[in-house]
Amino acid sequence: MFGKRGKTGKPEPVAAVPAATMTAAATNVMWRNMSPDVLHAFDEPDFPPQPHSLPIPNEVLREASSVSQMPAFFAIGEAWSQMVAHYLPRDPRVVDIGCGCGKLARWFYIIPGLTYVGIDLYAPSIRWCQKAFAPYADRFQFVHFDGHSEVYNPTGVVKASDYVMPLKDAEVDMTVCASLFTHLFEPDARHYLAEIRRITKPGGQAIISIHDQPKSGKFTGDEARIDIKGDYFRRMCADAGMPVVEQIGVIYGQTAYLLRRPA
Ligand SMILES: C[S@@+](CC[C@H](N)C(=O)[O-])C[C@H]1O[C@@H](n2cnc3c(N)ncnc32)[C@H](O)[C@@H]1O
Repeated sequence: MFGKRGKTGKPEPVAAVPAATMTAAATNVMWRNMSPDVLHAFDEPDFPPQPHSLPIPNEVLREASSVSQMPAFFAIGEAWSQMVAHYLPRDPRVVDIGCGCGKLARWFYIIPGLTYVGIDLYAPSIRWCQKAFAPYADRFQFVHFDGHSEVYNPTGVVKASDYVMPLKDAEVDMTVCASLFTHLFEPDARHYLAEIRRITKPGGQAIISIHDQPKSGKFTGDEARIDIKGDYFRRMCADAGMPVVEQIGVIYGQTAYLLRRPA
């Protein structure tokens, strides 16, 4: 199930388990007790690292960030990072909340002068990124916090609504939340918006994607899939002092919004 090596030395097939159905056991085994020295067992075996290139996470970690298939993993990561790059200033400071196994970070890595902090509560992805990006640790940092999520970290002890991002006030040019608010309950979403406002420079921006088709009401669903009505999301952003300045468009089924902290 968790990509253990088969007779051929390759990970055995991993069932396409929707992240939402992963159990505590599935999300927590192995990595917790594993030495960082063996984390490269979770590299994609068919495409080993090349000179000055990043390893590719194997299908287990890709699945945990919702797309196990390689073409989709790269296509979505590329589309997101190109979209974000369109709005970046020079030498930007970027924060990626719910960064997973670096689907976007590996593209941001190509932009010289960009510095990056990825944050996630799913320890396996963060530990893998810390190791994979270790040669570039001067620009790329990955932070795990033991936040509680029934889907991604059921044993976590920190309430997302209490989490203080490990960033100073007004140090960030761009915060990215790619398919994060699609998993956050309203108090957590509001708290994250307030934190994003705090860490963003005046005039700085954030790009957040949501599902915006609630069956009824304005904020519905569970951690597997949250839907927020577009108007209500705009109100939440305005309440937090990060008003929406552009509805960018639909990216792989989610609506992306550009928020800006007033200068
Ligand atoms: C659908 S995945 C998207 C991952 C990544 N943004 C990408 O596009 O590949 C959602 C990610 O959000 C993380 N996550 C869920 N709840 C979170 C929270 N409250 N704070 C930070 N990360 C969270 C999960 O662990 C998971 O890595």
